[in-house]
Amino acid sequence: MNIRAIALGLVAGCFSFAALAQAPIVIKFSHVVANDTPKGHAAEFFKKKAEELTKGRVKVEVYANSTLYKDKEEMEALQIGAVQMLAPSLAKFGPLGVKEFEVFDLPYIFDGYEDLHKVTQGPVGRMLLDKLDAKGVKGLAYWDNGFKSFSANRPLKSPADFKGLKMRIQSSKVLESQMRSLGSLPQVLAFSEVYQALQTGVVDGTENPISNLYTQKMHEVQKNLTLTEHGYLGYAVITNKKFWDGLPADIRKQLDDALDQATRYANQIAKLENDKALDAVRKSGRTEVYTPTAQEKLAFKKAMIKTHTEMESRIGKDLIRSIYKETGFDPSKL
Ligand code: LMR
Repeated sequence: MNIRAIALGLVAGCFSFAALAQAPIVIKFSHVVANDTPKGHAAEFFKKKAEELTKGRVKVEVYANSTLYKDKEEMEALQIGAVQMLAPSLAKFGPLGVKEFEVFDLPYIFDGYEDLHKVTQGPVGRMLLDKLDAKGVKGLAYWDNGFKSFSANRPLKSPADFKGLKMRIQSSKVLESQMRSLGSLPQVLAFSEVYQALQTGVVDGTENPISNLYTQKMHEVQKNLTLTEHGYLGYAVITNKKFWDGLPADIRKQLDDALDQATRYANQIAKLENDKALDAVRKSGRTEVYTPTAQEKLAFKKAMIKTHTEMESRIGKDLIRSIYKETGFDPSKL
């Protein structure tokens, strides 16, 4: 090799080294819902803030609607470092081995967002996120969605109406118990499969906050929706612990700031997004929306409350009690 070729090689090497030194850190953020949902908007908000605050040193790629991974795959992808951030619903941590998150699925344990925030923004919420460390996962924040309602192709006004219905659930034993308490047959399915399963009759009904129901077009294949608001659905924003701990300290700080802002935004828009979706479902005329009376609500509560005691051995009596203490919920008063 002559001198000129060596010199050219060195120059090219320097350029590619410089290019590499400036290459942004890429965060792949995968999730399973549509963009036009509380989680979809919050992920986009986080992307914008993270790129702004790090002045482009971090690039966030958001993959919505299961385009990259489905429910179970995304958890595995995070653990092996194929993606860097997720926000799975709290009902989906059992397969990872952190079943305590299923406490959030207990029917009627939260009376509204205010009750819920006492937990997600307090010591119990932090303690639960810290349990993820042992799995190589870091829990960063909680993002709200909202309260779930039941849908099917028959009116659902009392527990008796659920008898024999095949109901799609997320991978949570608490949800399994809840559906059985109503005499229905729970079936775990990935979120991306729900619309088709409802359309083809693989399952008869499901439960979701209305923003999920509407943006997945489930209202087109569900004739009846009862606004039971019987349980909460929200998210833990998580990252691969090794990736996060390995970030330069200044960048990690900027990302923490971006996430704080995204969390405030997520929790501000969640209820509005669900109210908007409910309006849209009503306007579509495809689904009859029923608001249960106080008496009907009580009948649902009485039927489903046994899930709390049934699940004590799985999620821990003390943990359930500590949430009752935060929120003031007393099942004996039903
Ligand atoms: C579901 O599977 O029903 C939800 O967890 C989807 C989501 O992420 O909101």
